[in-house]
Amino acid sequence: MSAQFPVQPIGRFAGASQPVRRPKEIACFSYNENHEFSIGDSSMKWYYTPQLGADLSRGFDTFQKLDDSKDEHLDSLLTTIVSHEKETGKRIDAHFVTWRGMMTKIMATPFDNQDGFEMNATLYQDCIFIEENNAYKVASRRNEGQNRRRHGPPLEVMQFWGYKFETLATMPAPWGDTERALIENRESEVVNNKAQYCSVVRTGIGKAILCLGGEVDAIWDSKPAQKGSPINWVELKTSAEIRGPGDVENFHRKLMKYWIQSFLLGVPKIIVGFRSRDGILLDVQEIETQRIPETVNGKPNPSWNADMCVNFAAAFLEFLMHTINDEGVWRIRRQPKSPMIEVFKVEETGHGDILSDDFKNWRIKL
Ligand code: A3P
Ligand code: MG
Ligand code: MG
Repeated sequence: MSAQFPVQPIGRFAGASQPVRRPKEIACFSYNENHEFSIGDSSMKWYYTPQLGADLSRGFDTFQKLDDSKDEHLDSLLTTIVSHEKETGKRIDAHFVTWRGMMTKIMATPFDNQDGFEMNATLYQDCIFIEENNAYKVASRRNEGQNRRRHGPPLEVMQFWGYKFETLATMPAPWGDTERALIENRESEVVNNKAQYCSVVRTGIGKAILCLGGEVDAIWDSKPAQKGSPINWVELKTSAEIRGPGDVENFHRKLMKYWIQSFLLGVPKIIVGFRSRDGILLDVQEIETQRIPETVNGKPNPSWNADMCVNFAAAFLEFLMHTINDEGVWRIRRQPKSPMIEVFKVEETGHGDILSDDFKNWRIKL
């Protein structure tokens, strides 16, 4: 069993955007500073303007870093879905359940010729569950570390800058409830990326209804009382200071991933910390997610197009719904620079480790 979905020519995805649904949060979960799971928003953070001039490398030696080589499958997302279904008494209606990161890779495919990906998928009770193929993730990280050596600070330090910026720009409670000392001491706080807040949303692209789980960095104000209303989430990013036209072009390229990632969870605002080449925070800019596509299209030779990302995803998801049509485990693979995405069976029966026993046992009862 195998099938191929051609990526090229991408011109066939041009034109008006397929319908999309506004993402609505249906549930959420948190990991604490030891990466222990719980349902709910205990690790949600509030945005708070950071002080410019901070050294983003400070504290690298005490970084509490998550070991992300472990394969967590879809476990925490599935546990949260079970909890939600126990509340509502019925199954969610999605055609796909996956991490936001997997959808980001898919949506970026038409304009990304560098990165490959591998995912595992299985059909269960009329829904396709997609996880990252962990062995591939670990191997490609290793290659990245070896291949991408240039001048400047080590890769690990540059990755730390992003988490340091999150620590400088967030608080564990709303402004009024936070002690002044806590706000003022953020520069010396230990950076820990084991804690996370994850939003689980219902959204849709083309004919497909999706249930996505993904990390949200911060909230601007507070969650609205009305369930399903838009939430003023904030996505935090760091990027090198823009010094010339080449930097602008690079930044516009980066905006594609920023936009896709934020669009999928309904994050309306992206706050970028611009840093010097050696990691000093120089400037902070707010970007409205929904204005990114027009900003990029307003330039002479845009490097990507948001409608085409949506149309590509709509077509590919429909292809998956036709292709992944019986039991077993399927691989979804794009090799770097390949003009196609391949889908083929790797296990004839069962669901591999994609679905937890707890999830299947719950669904059998429901
Ligand atoms: P920056 O993107 O600001 O550099 P996110 O932006 O998704 O909230 O991720 C927070 C930080 O995690 C990033 O900050 C970056 O440092 C690190 N990060 C995210 N994705 C990564 C990846 N694929 N490889 C390495 N580091 C990553
Ligand atoms: Mg994040
Ligand atoms: Mg971020």
